[in-house]
Amino acid sequence: MIDIVKNIATVPRRTKTSVIRELLKLTNKPNVISFAGGLPSPDFFPYDFVAEKAKEVVEKNGRMALQYGPTEGLPQLKEEFIKFLKEYEGIDARPENLIITTASQQALDLVGRLFIDAADPVVVEMPSYMGGLQVFKSYGADFVGVTLQDDGVDVEELEEKLEWLRKQDEHYKFVYLVPDFQNPSGVTLNRKKRERVLELSEKYDVAVIEDSPYRQIRFEGEAPEMLYKIDQDTLKTHNIISLFTFSKTFAPGLRLGVMLGHEDFIKRFVTLKQSLDLCTSSLNQLIAAEFLKTGQFKKHLEVVNREYKIKRDIMLLALKKYMPEGVNWVKPEGGLFLWVRLPKWMDANKMFNEAVNENVAYVIGSAFYADGSGKNTMRLNFSYPSHQQIEEGIKRLADTIRKNISAKQAVK
Ligand SMILES: Cc1ncc(COP(=O)(O)O)c(C=O)c1O
Repeated sequence: MIDIVKNIATVPRRTKTSVIRELLKLTNKPNVISFAGGLPSPDFFPYDFVAEKAKEVVEKNGRMALQYGPTEGLPQLKEEFIKFLKEYEGIDARPENLIITTASQQALDLVGRLFIDAADPVVVEMPSYMGGLQVFKSYGADFVGVTLQDDGVDVEELEEKLEWLRKQDEHYKFVYLVPDFQNPSGVTLNRKKRERVLELSEKYDVAVIEDSPYRQIRFEGEAPEMLYKIDQDTLKTHNIISLFTFSKTFAPGLRLGVMLGHEDFIKRFVTLKQSLDLCTSSLNQLIAAEFLKTGQFKKHLEVVNREYKIKRDIMLLALKKYMPEGVNWVKPEGGLFLWVRLPKWMDANKMFNEAVNENVAYVIGSAFYADGSGKNTMRLNFSYPSHQQIEEGIKRLADTIRKNISAKQAVK
């Protein structure tokens, strides 16, 4: 056999296995309560709807459903998605502004392919979505991290970093943001900061990727308008590329997402997608079009939002009840995650195996930091575990943390 290491190209050489996937393997033990995944709950998938519509779509429109489709996506889904954008976000879009993707992870790959040459600076939140960091890294990105605050990215620091890059004559390519119930932190970018981000995008002539899988999973409070929408109504930079996915609002197994942007961007993404998979599943697109058209999407969102709110509240209550002093967390108004900060001296990476031995698992926060910092943080998922598991798991986690704190105090 050939020497693989010697023969593989630069991109796969740079592509590292995700730390989360490695850690998740450890959490597959039967008794472990896992807060580690990012999965929607399978208890609420619309099984009957999919079974019924799959049959109907194949019977009525099988020649299209089982055939290759256009790379940019089927007009039926685009049409329904345009209506969704208008109704939910007040956004005006035309079919040329959309490309249907094989979910958002493919969209992130397309972004990486379009923009990144080796050693190009890419501006990211710290912490940021690990799957985004991983794909941008594989294309050779050099990350410039900007602190994430409890109301979104630090816009002053963002300006400083962009200014610094411009002075260095660095060809920075884009700013990657997850502005709604961010993965991992659950934080939402507030309205004022959104406006500032757009001003900076115009001033520094930089694209902004608005990756928003959790936006529709809102339990309370008012959603600030999307960056894309604010831009459409005000500056009209056309620098915003927004990423949607059906993974959290329908079912991740369908692998369906949508990118929204200026048609000049979209044309490029279409060309690049041709070499990835030619097209996204026609059958799944037609089912999703029905999901939107029949109002099932709205009904499903009501169920998911109601049920996840209950789970979030159980987790918040358990944290309050069990966590020792010095541990704090961000209360998210939606999404799937809760972000926990341990006392500064603590190391969630080192504690991970202890926690698994106590039969509870989380994701280490440092996996989401482009510079590997954030060792005292962890991400907890509340959508997947049951009510009882949330209560019991937080109790176990609190016990593990308390043991570490006591051990430190004993050394003193
Ligand atoms: C911020 C963010 N972007 C993109 C994705 C990818 O999701 P999918 O490919 O299922 O649409 C995820 C998944 O968890 C995510 O959290």
